[in-house]
Amino acid sequence: MRYGHFDDDRREYVITRPDTPLPWINYLGTEDFLSLISNTAGGYAFYRDARLRRLTRFRYNNVPPDQGSRFLYLRDDDTDRPPQAPLFWRPTGQPSPAPLENYECRHGLGYTRLRTSQSGIQADLRFFVPLGENLEIWQIRVTNQRKRPARLSLFAVVEFCLWDAWDDATNYQRNLSLAEVEVEDGVIYHKTEYRERRNHFAYFACSGTPAGYDTQRSAFLGDYRGWETPLAVTAGRLSNSIAHGWEPIGAHQLPMELEPGATSEVILLLGYAENPAASKFDPPGSQTLDKRIVRPTIQRLLEPEAVEQAFRESTAAWDETRSALQVETPDPHTNRLVNIWNPYQLSVTFNVSRSASYFDTGIGRGIGFRDASQDLLGSLLFIPDRARRRLLDLAATQLPDGGAYHQYQPLTKIGNNDIGSGFHDDPLWLVLATAAYVKETGDFDILNESVPFDNAVGTETSLEDHLRRALRFTLDRIGPHGLPLIGRADWNDCLNLNCFSDSPGQSFQTTVNKDGKIAESVFIAGLFILASQEMVALVERRGYPAEAESLVDAAHAMETAVWDAGWDGAWFRRAYDDAGRPIGSAECQEGQIFIEPQGICIMAGLGLQDGRARTALDSVAARLATPHGIVLHAPAYRRYYLHLGEISSYPPGYKENGSVFCHTNPWIMIAEARAGRGDAAFDYYLRINPSAREEQSDVHRCEPYVYAQMIAGREAPTYGEAKNSWLTGAAAWAHVAMTQWILGIRPEFDGLRIDPCIPSAWDGFKASRAFRGRNFRIVVRNPDKVCRGVVEMKVDGVKVPGVVVSADLPEGEHSVEIRLGR
Ligand code: GLC
Ligand code: GLC
Repeated sequence: MRYGHFDDDRREYVITRPDTPLPWINYLGTEDFLSLISNTAGGYAFYRDARLRRLTRFRYNNVPPDQGSRFLYLRDDDTDRPPQAPLFWRPTGQPSPAPLENYECRHGLGYTRLRTSQSGIQADLRFFVPLGENLEIWQIRVTNQRKRPARLSLFAVVEFCLWDAWDDATNYQRNLSLAEVEVEDGVIYHKTEYRERRNHFAYFACSGTPAGYDTQRSAFLGDYRGWETPLAVTAGRLSNSIAHGWEPIGAHQLPMELEPGATSEVILLLGYAENPAASKFDPPGSQTLDKRIVRPTIQRLLEPEAVEQAFRESTAAWDETRSALQVETPDPHTNRLVNIWNPYQLSVTFNVSRSASYFDTGIGRGIGFRDASQDLLGSLLFIPDRARRRLLDLAATQLPDGGAYHQYQPLTKIGNNDIGSGFHDDPLWLVLATAAYVKETGDFDILNESVPFDNAVGTETSLEDHLRRALRFTLDRIGPHGLPLIGRADWNDCLNLNCFSDSPGQSFQTTVNKDGKIAESVFIAGLFILASQEMVALVERRGYPAEAESLVDAAHAMETAVWDAGWDGAWFRRAYDDAGRPIGSAECQEGQIFIEPQGICIMAGLGLQDGRARTALDSVAARLATPHGIVLHAPAYRRYYLHLGEISSYPPGYKENGSVFCHTNPWIMIAEARAGRGDAAFDYYLRINPSAREEQSDVHRCEPYVYAQMIAGREAPTYGEAKNSWLTGAAAWAHVAMTQWILGIRPEFDGLRIDPCIPSAWDGFKASRAFRGRNFRIVVRNPDKVCRGVVEMKVDGVKVPGVVVSADLPEGEHSVEIRLGR
């Protein structure tokens, strides 16, 4: 069952009923001002940091869900109904006394539109954040489809958050006495804490001539009433209240008189601005907010033509971004994801990492070191310059021993240990991300960039040296089997082998009860081998043959350790626990086989020559693959194991305990592609591709246009149900697996490799790929119906040997024709 459909031509997902199984959301903004918007216009806005600089309030865990940010009401001021039962409704589809008669929501790239109607009044709403502006635009058109004139009031409301969203949700004894606002020329300014240490403020402006405003929530809602039936809307009048403490809001009332067929347009701006600390007040010496910085912007963007222009620029920018890679394959789900939604989701994971979604509250994690590094693998193609800055920011949070903070706060860029430290895989991801960046851009100079450790002035060294220390970090922490010590955890945050937590509420992410000298990770071993291959290629090109040689030796030793202690006979083991017993072995009762080491070790090339890779992949197919994707491990843990940590705290089939953790599935797709099995790789791709799952939206429940972090595994009672949509490494890895390994268009240090491993049923495919200032129009033909095997490559009509298109071709357009065969 579906709740809408894709409109590929307009690059939109069209939701046709407001009661989706969960709020289906979108993100607005690509730079500093970001906001979330659901299919009923719920959500929240923030500036850079969802915790430290929150503009509007959102209540997680609320019922009904999805109350926040954008409250709109249309009231029929003409009805002859009794005054205690006026006719009003919420044109966004939120619960209201008069349900909508028509509803359609279109989530597009960088905007959300709604078209709804009630009793002959149609509302067209469009929300977006213009490029280069710190504000969100609400464009509202109301059309009278009745045969008689209509007198209406539009009420538009935001609820302000007192900036620090954590404090806002917890510190009421202070907060309820803080709020301050100003209202001037119909613009509502939120300036809590501005008199003292803040130099920033928010504002809510509207076009036209408002009939009134409210800034005190209780005046608008009335006592003991909620957002469904506010007192002021019922009464049809705002009371021009000024918030002094309690809860500040911004509410505008806009009257409309519409002849039959007439349309009225209103523009609202929710914005953020900062003043220089030394000139905050106007006049100086007063306590009145200096508003000069925003007045011109407000004036300009309350004009419909300027808004149209800003909207065109925003959509043009998205088309430009996406144009870096466009494909035409026989599969619509592939095309849709690769061309539209996957790059879009990648931009969101780049911007907010794992901080702000409808599952991540924005008050917990900031930018994750491991997460952001992996996200880059997918997004750097589209935003190479921002990727470069991100790499340097990440490296600047590295510690002198090569280790890393697990996360940092985006506003301050300072590492934060609150959510744990000592994840021994973290630093290695930086090597993969940097190598991917250099392969894409050819920008070897980034390796010379001077970067501090832990953001401390005076500790600067080259990025190249940071990568060196990242690898060294692993080699300095080797366990009894010659495998890397796992520390707090590796990629799997919940396999905590040194934690042994037995008290309720203890954090698995910060508690350590063991000295960490025994438990080892086969996964980190595979990751180290993969990362050292990249580093070898880098340092060879930089002219350090001795370093390359010693790294080759280290990787070789690691590989030997994997074969000695990490191979279980038919698959790779997962780890060794604190007692030196294997995890992910046939000798275990539960958790006999895990997906992660099969993926990473084969991605690093292990077992490809001698058949053991195929054996491991066959074990994955037999033991882990389900119609809903490949589960993390099997069997899932049925009871709590003190020595395994958080993993066994989840009921079987959920999260890290045996769900389909989508992030890992592309590793198996890549491994299958490396083993030459394009049919299997593509089959796995479709199992988690959200568009391919659209028909079962009632089971899947999350948005059909983006990947979710997990899909409940087969041991879960809600098998097939997705959770934690949007902010997942699945976005980057699925993109990499499909475009670089299945379609096989893969940047390398010296050029663009094109070596597809596609489903044998495909006749071929076409692609347009930007690469270092060139654009390649690629046509792949597959007359013999093979998965892999380039028998001929022509560049600009001329046959060339090999499968790598040189990076030295003149800039501009080039054609590449490839024929696959036996
Ligand atoms: C709060 C504190 C209390 C303090 C008072 C005055 O009520 O809980 O400890 O004395 O503020 O600052
Ligand atoms: C979450 C984390 C990610 C981790 C994964 C598995 O997605 O953001 O860093 O690798 O869980 O535990």
